Amino acid sequence: MFERLKALPADPLLGLITLYRDDPNPNKVDLGVGVYRDEQGHTAIMKAIQQAQKTHLSTEDSKTYIGPMGVPGFVDGIKKLILGESSKALSAGAVAGIQTPGGCGALRVGFETLRRLGDDLTVWVSDPTWANHIPTIRASGFETQAYPYFDANTGLVNYEAMDEQLAKLGKDDIVLLHGCCHNPTGADLSFEHWQRIAERAVKQGFIPFVDIAYQGLGDGLESDVKGVRHLSEQVDEMVIASSCSKNFGLYRERTGCLIVQTENQERSAALQSQIQDVARANYSMSPAYGGFLVDLVLSSPDLRTSWEDELNAMATRVKSLREGLLAEIKQRNVSQDFDFITQQKGMFSYLNITKEQVRQMRDEFSIYMADSSRINVAGLNLSCLGYVADALKKACG
Ligand code: LMR
Repeated sequence: MFERLKALPADPLLGLITLYRDDPNPNKVDLGVGVYRDEQGHTAIMKAIQQAQKTHLSTEDSKTYIGPMGVPGFVDGIKKLILGESSKALSAGAVAGIQTPGGCGALRVGFETLRRLGDDLTVWVSDPTWANHIPTIRASGFETQAYPYFDANTGLVNYEAMDEQLAKLGKDDIVLLHGCCHNPTGADLSFEHWQRIAERAVKQGFIPFVDIAYQGLGDGLESDVKGVRHLSEQVDEMVIASSCSKNFGLYRERTGCLIVQTENQERSAALQSQIQDVARANYSMSPAYGGFLVDLVLSSPDLRTSWEDELNAMATRVKSLREGLLAEIKQRNVSQDFDFITQQKGMFSYLNITKEQVRQMRDEFSIYMADSSRINVAGLNLSCLGYVADALKKACG
């Protein structure tokens, strides 16, 4: 029977890990998977997380189940981190939530729950969107459609084109939005754009589904969620999938949270039971460890300050790498305009070069990036900026 199942090509992002690892070139540069690296190319455990691990290890006295919701303090902490301490929906008890295995787990449970609303809903994703969005949404039983998003001429958002599509949507539509630090483009919605989306969602009745995996890595923990908080204040119903992979550096611990904002407490209780039921049928309960650590960090003033400081330093470093790369490119008079690199936000930049140019940079310089030309800016370091700019000059002229 198994001969019917053919080998699949490697995942477009995760496949780059192996390609890079097996490349013997000492000058190789890994700009593939979205992982923060320091100047030495190391993904260190954040200091607050190191401390939380010690505390957790010395206090945990049982490995019994903690319940379908996951670590309650973690879920509450993430709700507040995203929606804000003064969120009206939170104080009304109208927000359901569950710890999930990473942001991917939150997406999958969220979409499978929405699938229970009926057969005729369509999910709209940005063009382009993160490589794993469409497979996850389709595996949840939905068809996807794309709304215009990225403007290849400016390297930023083409909001008017996006708005033209949103204007046609209604109660049978779900719109997936990137909360901040758009993956793969780095082109973010402005606050005014969020206001316009909120107006449309209220008037037309589509459900906003926000994926937020980089809070704190753009303009800061609060600024990065200004748009999401505005949306939450305006609409009755929305869904949020959040990830602690990047901003807490918990990649392999698969720590995420699904948040469902409803109209009132009664609906929130119903949704809480639905999301737990979807999770139960998939993997029963989320691994708890990452949730314990994040809960400790968010609830201890010292650890929280340490975490915020380190996260701010990471975001500042990524911004300076953007500036450094652009300066090196300009010095080489590369034919293409790359000014957008410093206007884009977060860990990614969409270089807007062809797949052939991407492959040329890989084959001749051992510089690894997604075929879409997405680079992980956080994979750069000061010593390779000139080398990457040389490769771009060779590829683009
Ligand atoms: C990425 O976009 O590179 C990260 O979110 C890692 C992943 O799972 O794709």
